[in-house]
Formats: sequence, structure tokens, C-alpha cells
Amino acid sequence: MSQINWFPGHMHKARKEIAEVMSEIDLVIEVLDARLPRSSENPLVNQLRKGKPVLKILNKQDLADPQVTEEWLAHFNSQDGVRAIALDASQQKLVKRLPEICKQMIPARAKAERPVRAMIMGIPNVGKSTLLNAILGRKLAKVGNEPAVTRQQKRYTVQGGLALSDTPGILWPKIEDLDSGYRLAASGAIKDTAIEHELVATFAARFMLDHYADNLRERYRLTDLPEIADDLLDVIGRKRGCLRPGGVVDRHKASEILINEMRAGTLGRISFETLTEWQQKDEAARLAALEAENAAATGEKSNDTH
Ligand code: G4P
Repeated sequence: MSQINWFPGHMHKARKEIAEVMSEIDLVIEVLDARLPRSSENPLVNQLRKGKPVLKILNKQDLADPQVTEEWLAHFNSQDGVRAIALDASQQKLVKRLPEICKQMIPARAKAERPVRAMIMGIPNVGKSTLLNAILGRKLAKVGNEPAVTRQQKRYTVQGGLALSDTPGILWPKIEDLDSGYRLAASGAIKDTAIEHELVATFAARFMLDHYADNLRERYRLTDLPEIADDLLDVIGRKRGCLRPGGVVDRHKASEILINEMRAGTLGRISFETLTEWQQKDEAARLAALEAENAAATGEKSNDTH
């Protein structure tokens, strides 16, 4: 999975484009998927924003575990130049307040009565277009999912003191590890064709058994849950009559049911990743890097002495 290059050839161009756009705007509105705030991030935003404030919108909060979302919000809100809010498409009142929130983040522009220039950015399918349309109160043409923040396409519409680019910046997800890839696939951010559907379903089944077992019991009316992920798919398949001749479960159909119900929120509000888990991963990565550095330095020293 880590070897899949989702958007080959775009990386360098996109980096340049993001850097250019950054120099023209006062604020980034970064849309993340509330169910996977870290895996739906693109680190280039942080790298290239050069101190410019960012409003992180943990979108689709209606689908995420509220308690986990709260932890992510507190984490982001403790960072310099970052403000984070959770949102979903039904919260029109909060959407209408976004221009005001953006103005609060750039007081100098607001004081000078100049509109705050902002661009919505994020990976595909996090809800950028839905949000943009809601803020601007009209339906803009849907742009393709090619990563781009091209200057040529840019047109800004001023709304309540916010000058918002009519085109969202489309970033690619950074797939840090296998889990991130599966999470992106299970949430629908990565198209189904990219990863084998049944592999994603096996991941999803394992994840649900480990973290949201009660949701499974309730949804599929099960008193006992199997221990093995593939067995869960078989149980779901049988319950829903996905049988091939001879009574064999059609795993593909069972996989579709589980994934679609997870994505739609029918299985309840689910978060794929917690802050604690990522803090542990980051700490482990930091220690590994330190160890590698030390090992390299020791190697150099011993070479010098020979
Ligand atoms: P993008 O521009 O970032 O690519 O995302 P887009 O707005 O196209 O939204 C992707 C999908 O997510 C859409 O569903 C959209 O309706 C849904 N969505 C956006 N915001 C929210 C939200 O806050 N909560 C929930 N639950 N869903 C949201 P779709 O099925 O791909 O399209 P459609 O059938 O709605 O047109």
C-alpha cells in the first residue's frame, strides 16, 4: 500500500503551487475528515503556511465519535496559529459564522476593513465543495479531483468580509502507514478501485470488532461476535442473504454492505484514529530517528579512527 503513488508527477508542481497560493492569502481553511483527522491531513499545508494561521475544520463530525473529536479539537487548538472547529453539512448556522471566525483570526485585516483572503484546502472527498457552496450560498461547479491549487483558476468571492477562492485547493493524502491507507479507503477518501475492496472490508471488520463491537451487535442483531474479521464478513453476508449457489457467502457483497454502512454512519458514529495513538506513533518515530542518527554518528566516528 505504501508503494502506491496516488498522484504521480504532481508532487513537485503542487508544492510550488501551494507555496505561491500561500503568499497571496491570509489564512488557510483546511478541511479534514473528523473521523481521521491525521490521516486526512497533508503535511505540506503546515510546512508551507509559514506562520499563516490555519482554520482546521473537522468536517463530517456527524459521522465521527464525538468524544474522540473533542480530543482532536483540544490538540489542534493548543497549537500556534491554529484554530479548529468540528462541523457538518447540516450546521448551516455555524457555516454562516465562518467568515466572522476567519476575521477574528486576522484582526489586522479586519481592522483595516479589508477582506480576509482565504482558500479552502483538503484531500478529495472531505467535503470541500459542499462547504464552499454553503459559505458562498450558491452552487459552484464541482472540480475534478486532480491535485491542484492553480492560480489561473482562481477567483475570489467576498462574503461577509471573507474573500474566498471559488476553487478549493485539492491536496493528496499523505499515507504514513498501512493503517492510514486503509482508514482513507474505509472512509471513502480513496476510491474503491485503488485498494482491493475485500482487503478494506477485512480491515474494517477487524477495526469494528476491536473498537465498536456494540455497534456491530446492535446493527446486525448479533449476540455473539466472531473473533476473526473474515468470519464477521461471513456472518453479515448470511444475515443479509448474500449467498452464492451452494450456500457460500458472497464475500464481495458482504464487504460492500459493511463498508457502505460504515461510510454512511448506519453503524453509528465512528472515529478511525485517536490522538493518543498518534502521539505514541510519533514518539516511536522520533526515538527511531534519534537512534538512527546516533548509529550513523557512531559509524562515522569509528570510520574516522580507522
Ligand atoms: P470534496 O469537494 O472535498 O471532494 O467533497 P464533496 O463536497 O464533494 O463531498 C464528498 C461527499 O461527502 C459528498 O457525498 C458529500 O455530500 C458528503 N459530505 C460533505 N460534507 C458532509 C458532512 O458534513 N457530513 C456527511 N455525512 N457527508 C458530507 P457524495 O455521496 O459523494 O455525493 P452526494 O451524493 O452527496 O452528491
